[in-house]
Amino acid sequence: MSRIPVAVVGATGAVGQALVAALHGHPWFTVEALVASERSAGLKYRDAVRWVLPGSVPPEVADRTILDVTADLQTPIILSCIDAGLARELEPQWAQRGHRVFSNASAFRLHPTVPLLIPEVNADHYALVQYRDSAWKGLIVTNPNCCVAGLAMALGPLTKRWSLERVYVTTFQAVSGAGLQGLAALPIADNVIPWIAGEEEKLQKEPPKILGWLQGARVVEYPVEIIPSCYRVPVRHGHTLALVIEGDADMTPERAAEAWRDFRPPDWVRQLPSGVGQPIRVWTEVDRPQPALDRDEGQGMVVHVGRIRGQAGRVLCTVLVHNLIRGAAGAVLLNAELSVSLNPL
Ligand SMILES: NC(=O)c1ccc[n+]([C@@H]2O[C@H](COP(=O)([O-])OP(=O)(O)OC[C@H]3O[C@@H](n4cnc5c(N)ncnc54)[C@H](OP(=O)(O)O)[C@@H]3O)[C@@H](O)[C@H]2O)c1
Repeated sequence: MSRIPVAVVGATGAVGQALVAALHGHPWFTVEALVASERSAGLKYRDAVRWVLPGSVPPEVADRTILDVTADLQTPIILSCIDAGLARELEPQWAQRGHRVFSNASAFRLHPTVPLLIPEVNADHYALVQYRDSAWKGLIVTNPNCCVAGLAMALGPLTKRWSLERVYVTTFQAVSGAGLQGLAALPIADNVIPWIAGEEEKLQKEPPKILGWLQGARVVEYPVEIIPSCYRVPVRHGHTLALVIEGDADMTPERAAEAWRDFRPPDWVRQLPSGVGQPIRVWTEVDRPQPALDRDEGQGMVVHVGRIRGQAGRVLCTVLVHNLIRGAAGAVLLNAELSVSLNPL
């Protein structure tokens, strides 16, 4: 098939760059428009972007002139990597104009008729788009917060076998999670910062929607209490999460490990261009996973689970998720692929 043109909005940011890199050689999509703030608009992409990823700016976009958000975008797909305030204003306008908008921002994640997707876990929630705002000729689909991408992926296979009651989660979050502006301003060397704005709230509110079930035009939330503590640590990319999962008495560390090891998403999801055969990797080595060693497995789309221990009804483990890929750029791309696979353009 001929490749579908997409616009990347926020293309110069940490997530936007990861997306531009992931779109290089993509079999279904081709980058037509790169959009950023007034600061960057009018400049060539390679001059405007402060590239923080391995390798260099993909040659096919290096000389592309950056547009600002007032540009009349013509692409059927918009991949949105801007902050939530701006997304709240712009994404419904794009949806009204008929674009399919795939968003990394938190603005519409909890909107009752906007899907909040991890395709391996809740691809069926895509059906919510049929109940979307009647003014939207297009649609909005969201992916979760970067830590939630790892947390809900890890909890998903467990909820298929047991009832979960409570999850304590302590996060050790990489600096690239703060975006390029945040990155420059953070006093992170020789430091741990015991608070990240808005993060604990997202960890509490997003997983119950992702793990819940469809009932007509809404998702019934999965009733689990999540008790988060979020820390910024001096790691470049890759968020680590320490979990204590409480649930049914027959949930043991051995059985939980088996549930993670045996987890296979539906074949059609695994076969999407950004899909991975086995999205959860289980570690038995006591000192894994580690961000520096393991975050890039499966082009950054694999979620790692290790240090599995505990007792009946109470399982402890460590989860690693690549915040910029599985938690952002790869997630938004997988959602766009899922949409095109279900409703071809
Ligand atoms: N970083 C992560 O790990 C991560 C993970 C999941 C989700 N997210 C979410 O993804 C979104 C982007 O995050 P990020 O980390 O990539 O942020 P970032 O590095 O700060 O990048 C922000 C991007 O937005 C652009 N922008 C700023 N103001 C704009 C305006 N008025 N009009 C158009 N574009 C504008 C910036 O362009 P200029 O370069 O021209 O300023 C830049 O391209 C946020 O909603 C964030 O919460 C981030």
